[in-house]
Amino acid sequence: MQEGFVIWLTGLSGSGKTTLAKEVERELRSRGMRYVQRLDGDVVRQDLTRDLGFSKEDRNENIHRVTFVAELLSRNGVPTTCAFISPYREARATARARCRNFIEVYVECPLDVLIERDPKGLYKKALAGEITGFTGIDDPYEPPENSEIIVHTDQETVEESTGKILTFLEESGLIPAVSEGLLSSRVSVAEGM
Ligand code: ADX
Repeated sequence: MQEGFVIWLTGLSGSGKTTLAKEVERELRSRGMRYVQRLDGDVVRQDLTRDLGFSKEDRNENIHRVTFVAELLSRNGVPTTCAFISPYREARATARARCRNFIEVYVECPLDVLIERDPKGLYKKALAGEITGFTGIDDPYEPPENSEIIVHTDQETVEESTGKILTFLEESGLIPAVSEGLLSSRVSVAEGM
């Protein structure tokens, strides 16, 4: 059975967590992994945690429930990506403590770039005071101090940031290196001939 792991993407809204999670998922599937699961704040909050808001308690409860699911999946060999702002260090530390092979990715992007991007128009609303308690504007974000990976999405392409994550997984032995994978498929083709 393939070994499970949890790729935990943390960062401000609009920093690129979902984009990277989808890209990592796509890449893992293209490398032959059949079972990969993505857990994403925007989706999970419509279902599993739809009763929760954005107070510190609710955000930590959101992370607590998602950690429960990620732990189950990864324990059963399913690579899992988690894309949540997860602004509080303590909640992320709890997730790390509960999940084996926990890889924290800090998806970093300066606030002025996010305000410029603003695909959902939420920063505009937060700056106008129409939304209160918005992370990075009038609600805290505690950046990771010891994340396994940092990606700077204002400076790197999606491919570059995804590449950092995949390289880390390869170097940790959690997925086969591409060259090894290609080699083994070539060998098995040759053997079958
Ligand atoms: S977390 O803080 O609990 O980890 P989560 O990642 O699930 O947050 O959800 C964040 C998404 O909720 C944002 O991308 C945004 O679309 C939406 N959102 C709505 N209100 C807020 C808010 N006050 N702060 C941050 N995000 C918000």
